Amino acid sequence: MTKKIIIDTDPAMGTKGGDPEDCFAIMLALNSPELHIEGITTVQGNVPVERGFSNVTYLLNELGKDIPIHSGTTGTYDPNRNKERLWLGKRDNMEQIAPLLPIEDSRIEASSFISTQCSNNPKEIELVTIGPLTNIARALDLNPNLNKEIKKITMMAGAAKVPGNITPAAEFNVWADPEAASKVFKSGIDITMVPLDVCHKTRLSKEQLVSIGDHEHPFCKFVLESVKPWINIRSELVSDEGLHLYDSLAMAICFMPELVECQSAYVGVETAGNYSTGETVCEFNESIMGKLKKQEPNAQVALNLDVKVFNKIFYERVISFLKTL
Ligand code: RIB
Ligand code: CA
Repeated sequence: MTKKIIIDTDPAMGTKGGDPEDCFAIMLALNSPELHIEGITTVQGNVPVERGFSNVTYLLNELGKDIPIHSGTTGTYDPNRNKERLWLGKRDNMEQIAPLLPIEDSRIEASSFISTQCSNNPKEIELVTIGPLTNIARALDLNPNLNKEIKKITMMAGAAKVPGNITPAAEFNVWADPEAASKVFKSGIDITMVPLDVCHKTRLSKEQLVSIGDHEHPFCKFVLESVKPWINIRSELVSDEGLHLYDSLAMAICFMPELVECQSAYVGVETAGNYSTGETVCEFNESIMGKLKKQEPNAQVALNLDVKVFNKIFYERVISFLKTL
């Protein structure tokens, strides 16, 4: 049976210098018969919302896919957090190679789309979230029963036992909107968290990326043009010219959960720290307080991955697919 999903994403393929990886995850979903995509919602994260909306619209048009797309509104869940996220404004200067569309082209706001779809189909729709959790937190505010109506969330979020990637403590998606993430983890929804611990076991090399552009199809040229500036940024900042397939891994786990071994944990999101804002503190009931309190878990945390099987699926459904366009 196919799984009905809504993908919530901050797609930057189409904005030069943004992290293009969400779009590989979307391509993986499009080429996975195990999934039926009910809609795609975009959120502020890698790029401002209007750019994410434009980028995913371009992607679907180029691949001839007719799937509803709805944009979230700009800003973080807690408006007080906005001032810390002003770096996003700098992204307004990035070269946009997917045509920039007016946000009004998204007629329904992302959180109301999520809320309505899940209410109309209770316990049928799973969310795959591969960006900050702003839209999901806002959807929970719109509908007090939503936590019982969403079947499950598979989220690329957080770091369990390893350092963060945007700060020493925090992973980007949680750091970008910690109050939203905290609300979602407290919601009682069935959550599988796909943290950096497993994501860092995946990698697409520069050579594999460049080989996409060797194919003559204009969309492959577009992919390479979009990806190149991000490779350069990674090379400068973290001395790595490849990509970790964070979001694609979360997508694969949604339709193939046996790819990972999970451990249940109580995940708390740090919203008050001076140095650790956005940290996902995972209590596996291994600490002294954990053993004493025996806190009820609120998430399954992916910790071990069958990298070979994941690589094979990703290669067949994304890289080979692009090369046969
Ligand atoms: O920390 C990894 C996350 O941030 C992923 O969703 C990826 O798209 C990056 O922007
Ligand atoms: Ca993302």
